[in-house]
Amino acid sequence: SISSAFDFGSTLFPLSQTNGGYAPLGAPSQFSLDRQNGILNGSLEKNKTLTYLNGLSLIIGLIIGSGIFSSPSQVNANAGSPGASLIVWVVAGLLAWTGAASYAELGGAIPLNGGAQVYLAKIFGELVGFLFTWCAVFVLKPGSAAIISIIFGEYVVRAFVGADVEHINPWINKGVALAGLFVVTFLNCVSTRLGTRIGDLFMFFKFIALVGVTVTGIVVAITGFSSKGTASQEWKTTGWFEGTSTDVSGWAVALYAGLWAFDGWDNTNYVTGEFKNPNRDLPRVIHTAMPLVIVCYLMANVSYFLVLPLSTIESSNTVAVQFGGQVFGPVGALVLALVVSASCFGALNATTFTSGRLVYAAGKEGYLPSLFGKLGIRGSADATGGRLRHRSWFRKSLSRLFGDDVGIGFTPINAMVFNGVLTAAYTIVGEFATLVTFYGVAGYTFYFLTVLGLIVLRIREPRLERPYRTWITTPIIFCCVSLFLLSRAVIAEPLQTLIVIAFIMVGVPVYFWRIYQRDGKLKFPDWKFWK
Ligand code: ARG
Repeated sequence: SISSAFDFGSTLFPLSQTNGGYAPLGAPSQFSLDRQNGILNGSLEKNKTLTYLNGLSLIIGLIIGSGIFSSPSQVNANAGSPGASLIVWVVAGLLAWTGAASYAELGGAIPLNGGAQVYLAKIFGELVGFLFTWCAVFVLKPGSAAIISIIFGEYVVRAFVGADVEHINPWINKGVALAGLFVVTFLNCVSTRLGTRIGDLFMFFKFIALVGVTVTGIVVAITGFSSKGTASQEWKTTGWFEGTSTDVSGWAVALYAGLWAFDGWDNTNYVTGEFKNPNRDLPRVIHTAMPLVIVCYLMANVSYFLVLPLSTIESSNTVAVQFGGQVFGPVGALVLALVVSASCFGALNATTFTSGRLVYAAGKEGYLPSLFGKLGIRGSADATGGRLRHRSWFRKSLSRLFGDDVGIGFTPINAMVFNGVLTAAYTIVGEFATLVTFYGVAGYTFYFLTVLGLIVLRIREPRLERPYRTWITTPIIFCCVSLFLLSRAVIAEPLQTLIVIAFIMVGVPVYFWRIYQRDGKLKFPDWKFWK
C-alpha cells in the first residue's frame, strides 16, 4: 500500500513483519548482523514489499523538507544574483541526481539494507564503514536534525509575530526549536508506531506548501496581484545576472545550501533489500524523483523571485512566510508559517525515528557502548524478547490505541536520548547557515568516498553482477564536483572543515578501542582497496 511507503522509518530499519510490521524492536529477527563483513544492519530482507510508487513517495517525501523554505537566503546571498542562484539550484540538483544514480548502481550490486555504511565496508573494509557510522551518529544525524529544528523554531515564531517583525531574539527561536525537539524525541520514546503515524500525517503538509508557493507565484506573475503592491523587482530593470558573485568560495557555500534542500537522495538505498523488484524500480525511482524535485525547486525559486525583493529573500531564513505575507497579507503569512512548521516537524520526526535506530544498531554492533543497543530503560524488552510479561492496565490501553509496541520498554530510549541531547547541543551552539555548511562538508566527504567506491568496484570486480549500470561519466562527474566542493570548503569555512577532519580522525582510535572491547583482540583493518 502507498501508506506503507510513508512509514519509511520502519522500512529504513525494518522491524519484523510478524506483528503487522510493528513487532517490538527486541524481536530476534531484527537485524541480521553480518559480523564477518563488518556490516551494520546490512540485512537481506525476506519481506519484499516496496513498489515503484512506494519508492517514489518515499524519496520525494524525504527530500522535500525544510530546505526549499529556508536555503534560498543563503544561496542568493552567496551567488549574488537571481540568475546565478537558479544556476546553483540546477547544479545542486544535478549533483544530487548523479549521486543518486551512482547509489542506485551500488544498491543493485550490493543489494543489502543499510546504505553507505554497507557499501563502504564492502569496498574499503570495516574501518571506513565504521567511520561513516561514527560520523552519522555524532555529526550527520544530529546535525541535520538540528538544522530542521532551527527552521521549525523560526517558522513557528513567525506564525506568532508575523512576517513583518524585523528582529526576534534568536533565543526565542531556539527555545521553540528545543521544545519541538523534546516533543518529537519524547513521542519516539513512547512508541514506534506513534512516530511513524505522525510521519504519515505531516507528510502532506510539505506538498501543500510547495505546490501552494509555486501556483501562487505563477498567478502573481500573470495577474500582478499582491496585497502590498508589486515588489521592487530589481532584476526587471537590471537583468537576472546583475551582481553575480565572482568569489568561487561563495559559490561553494551557495551550493552547500542548495545541496541541503536536495539531501536525502540516498535514502532509498537504506531499504534496497525491501523492493519487490529493486533492479528495475530503484533506477526508475531515482530517474523520476530527481528531475521532479529539481523542477519543483526551480519553480518555487522563480516564484520567490517574482514576488519578493531580493533583499528580503537574502535576509530571511523564513522565505515562505515573507512570500505569503507579500501576496496575501498577515493571513497568508500565518498559513504558510503553519504549513511549513508542520512540514519541518514531520521531517524532524522522521529523522529522529531513523537516528534512534541507527544509534541502537551501532550499540548492538558494539560500535557504541552496549547501553545504546538496549531497548527500554534497563533493556527490559531485550530480556523478555520484546514483550513485558506483566502489562499494566495503563499499558494495555495504550496498546489498544497505538499498537502493541507502545510504552517505555519497547523503544530504543537510550539511543533516542543520546541523539536528542546531541541534537540539542547543535541547536544551541549552531545556526542555520553554519550548520548547513558543516553538514555539507561532513556529508559530502562520505558521499564522495562511496561514489569513489563505485569506480573502485568497477575496476576491482568488473564481473560483479550489476543489474543497473549507470554511465561511467555519472560517478566521475559526481566525484569531481564534490571534490571541488570539499576543497573549496577548506578556504570558505576553514574552521568547520577542520572540525570535520579532526572528528573523522578521532574515529580511528575509537574504532580500535571499540573493536577491542567487542572482540577482545585488536583487529587491523583489511584494506580491501589493494586486494
Ligand atoms: N532535504 C531535506 C530538507 O530540505 C533534508 C534532508 C536531511 N537529510 C536526511 N538524510 N534526513 O529538509
